[in-house]
Amino acid sequence: MSTLPVAVVTGAAGGIGEAAVFSLLARGMRVVATDVRRDRLDHLGEHPGLLRHMLDVTHPDHAYEVAEWAVRELGRVDALVNAAGVFARTPATAMDELVMRQILSVNLEGALRCTSALGAKMAQAGHGRIVHVASVSAVGGAALASVYAASKAGLIAAARSAARELGPRGVRVNVVSPGIIDTEMLAPDRAMAERFVVPRIPAGRLGQAKEVAELIAFLATNAPDYMTGSVLVLDGGLSVG
Ligand code: NAI
Repeated sequence: MSTLPVAVVTGAAGGIGEAAVFSLLARGMRVVATDVRRDRLDHLGEHPGLLRHMLDVTHPDHAYEVAEWAVRELGRVDALVNAAGVFARTPATAMDELVMRQILSVNLEGALRCTSALGAKMAQAGHGRIVHVASVSAVGGAALASVYAASKAGLIAAARSAARELGPRGVRVNVVSPGIIDTEMLAPDRAMAERFVVPRIPAGRLGQAKEVAELIAFLATNAPDYMTGSVLVLDGGLSVG
């Protein structure tokens, strides 16, 4: 059995998750790419360090099954990247009950569940790194997206809590908070973002998934051991105002 460190990535069929998979592979990790859309993981192609697993983060058992499988088959779990997420409009005064539940279930409960399942293996081993993907909307808010913003604010609170709790057990928990990144999630709003938001971004453009992935990979591998409970904003300066 290889002794190379192992990272589990959720939402790996999506723009940021996929880019994170390749940034982690480039750093010599074995990577378990997971997503609810198992068929889409085939598009990742072949790499000696790449493994695939279906994981619906809203399912009560999947994350635990993947954690057991990883320890049994790969011998270790060194990092978890929580990139699974969904976005939908939720006008504050016209809330759709099902949409609200879905966003909270994936973005918040899913991340808590994966932390429970995979963080437990890391805590047992006495080391590990968890990286969550939040959003600048967690702090700045987002019109017509109060549920999404709340899910990400909750995620930051959960991450900082886990950082306190798991720090003494050798597990570091940090958050990347992206601004507007050019992925499939943005597609329905891309034209609007280009027209109305990009002019307000000091960097003058949308962010790229690869840029977020490099920050994720840094936090999941060689960030200082002293770094935990941190929220790193990557938004081209958007939130500077
Ligand atoms: P994306 O839509 O390309 O990827 C999201 C992935 O999550 C998809 O592959 C999807 O299948 C997966 N997913 C959805 N529900 C799932 C479930 N129940 N279980 C497992 N996987 C599930 O979006 P993107 O942009 O790659 O987003 C990644 C993360 O970054 C998300 O958490 C998102 O909220 C966050 N983010 C994205 C921003 C953007 O502008 N694209 C900005 C800030 C944060």
